[in-house]
Amino acid sequence: MLKYHECFFASVAVKISPDWFDVKFRPYTLLAELTHQCPLHCPYCSNPLNLASPLQELSSTEWERVLREAAELGVLHVGFSGGEPLQRADLIQIVSAAKIAGLYSNLITSAVGLTRRRAEELKKAGLDSIQISFQSDEEVLANKIAGAKAHQTKLEAARLARELAFPLTINVVLHRSNIDRLPEIVALAEETGADRLELANTQYYGWAFRNRATLLPTRSQIENAKNIAREAKQRLTGRMELLFVMPDYYSGRPKPCMNGWGRTHLTINPTGYALPCPTAGEIKNLAFDNVREKSLGWIWNESSAFNRFRGSEWMPMPCRDCEFREVDFGGCRCQAALITGTAENTDPACSFSPHRSKLTEFVELAAQRLDQTSEREIVFRDNR
Ligand code: SF4
Ligand code: FES
Repeated sequence: MLKYHECFFASVAVKISPDWFDVKFRPYTLLAELTHQCPLHCPYCSNPLNLASPLQELSSTEWERVLREAAELGVLHVGFSGGEPLQRADLIQIVSAAKIAGLYSNLITSAVGLTRRRAEELKKAGLDSIQISFQSDEEVLANKIAGAKAHQTKLEAARLARELAFPLTINVVLHRSNIDRLPEIVALAEETGADRLELANTQYYGWAFRNRATLLPTRSQIENAKNIAREAKQRLTGRMELLFVMPDYYSGRPKPCMNGWGRTHLTINPTGYALPCPTAGEIKNLAFDNVREKSLGWIWNESSAFNRFRGSEWMPMPCRDCEFREVDFGGCRCQAALITGTAENTDPACSFSPHRSKLTEFVELAAQRLDQTSEREIVFRDNR
């Protein structure tokens, strides 16, 4: 069986036109958030606190047009996400539209609702790969984090995905309650026969930002996890790809978020707003355009939101004169907005940022309050 990346590039190689390599900003990946509906209640969810109603969601006909336009614009890879994309009764139709448009498709799912019949229909419709999220390796803890009895369903769905020959990624969001179980989590991924394991430290947006004092691991937990992940990655070379995403709250450099604003990625949220990243809608002083009113091509090339933080012209000091400005693109606009109050600032995860102390103080305070921070303070995602 091909690995995820080999499969991805093999499936799209014939479509690449030489002209595209001259284009400076071109979307390669589309995250299609089909719905905010979800049977789980994870407290680290990065969906907005105000979830969209199903009545406002794009229809399958609208998604068909969007997927066609995305392919015309150069997108190669679509991730169907949410919320839980399996909550959409018309998912098969939308996946077929991606296939017809020539896109490589990945289902990003909790696996709740992935019955044998549904999985077979998705295969027939042309779905290329599946990513299943797990909350832990251990059932009681996993169900507690998910706020639902879902762990066994996930194990069965992972077996089903392998039986139907889908390339499989297991994704586990790490935080204070599950990060010490990393050896067992790696073992679980091995047992499922996954091609890829993504160990993603929580990114603090949406519900996760609301819960960050309780979710943030300690520095020693992170160091320990980093070592375990490094050893596992070496041991599993050639069998399973392992990705460990470092949390930037503990790093001196910010992540090159989305590979730069409006450079290679776009998200369409359930109500049709096109965003440079999944959480950009939370930046209050930006006006985003909707695919119900504008073409995707116009939004990508002309809209003020997609152009606002492109390139390096917009950058404040110290980014403007920094040797890393084409490496991390000034970090994350959403994190700058959440923590400093304005998206125009350097990401405070950067040690050169004049706002770095806001992160450092938070990390120190969280460490001091460790014994007092009760799990009872966690706000589980409320799906209403
Ligand atoms: Fe990146 Fe800006 Fe920090 Fe330089 S100053 S490392 S460009 S965030
Ligand atoms: Fe929005 Fe980083 S999450 S720019």
